[in-house]
Amino acid sequence: MASLEPKPVSASRITLAQLMQPQHANNLGTVHGGVIMKLVDEAGALAATRHAGHRVVTVAVDQMMFQHPIRLGHLVILTAEVSYVGRTSMEVEVQVVAENPLTGERVHTNTAYVVYVAVDEHGKPTPVPPLLLETEAQRQRWEQAKARQAFRLQQRAQMRRTAAAQEESA
Ligand SMILES: CC(C)(COP(=O)(O)OP(=O)(O)OC[C@H]1O[C@@H](n2cnc3c(N)ncnc32)[C@H](O)[C@@H]1OP(=O)(O)O)[C@@H](O)C(=O)NCCC(=O)NCCS
Repeated sequence: MASLEPKPVSASRITLAQLMQPQHANNLGTVHGGVIMKLVDEAGALAATRHAGHRVVTVAVDQMMFQHPIRLGHLVILTAEVSYVGRTSMEVEVQVVAENPLTGERVHTNTAYVVYVAVDEHGKPTPVPPLLLETEAQRQRWEQAKARQAFRLQQRAQMRRTAAAQEESA
């Protein structure tokens, strides 16, 4: 049984760095967006797993916008931090930065919000520890994340109503 003692954001924060190589390229010779999406999910899942002390599954990914192409030979640095927790779910904010290792120049390429659910050995949602908010920035991020989560749940309810109506009319 994992502990349900409150945990600070710093206890699960994680930074991953990956060198972009030819296998990461798209047809234009820059980095394929799907590579970044996968790294975002991996970094986010690691932070969520650390917080939960359980395995986690991805349940929602907010829209991702890529503001700058990333070049081969550059380093992608992802920082993932739990921003909000519910009973069994956690929102993780993942910041993506690309660094030219020759010059040290860094560009923020995108921020993604990913929701994970902690699951037990049967794949059922299981409770996660509360998040200990220690700074004003963390408290503000929590409030913003709470609003995003409420919006996602509204969208889920809408999707379910649409699916039920389609089934009825089929
Ligand atoms: C994640 C999963 C176990 C949740 O099961 P469920 O029956 O929907 O469970 P619940 O309705 O109790 O939801 C569990 C939690 O997830 C949250 N959640 C569910 N759907 C969500 C969504 N679309 N967006 C945000 N949060 C969501 C709920 O709010 C709840 O959070 P809380 O406990 O903190 O209040 C189930 O949906 C699942 O297995 N999904 C597939 C996951 C997967 O395979 N991911 C890989 C991508 S292919």
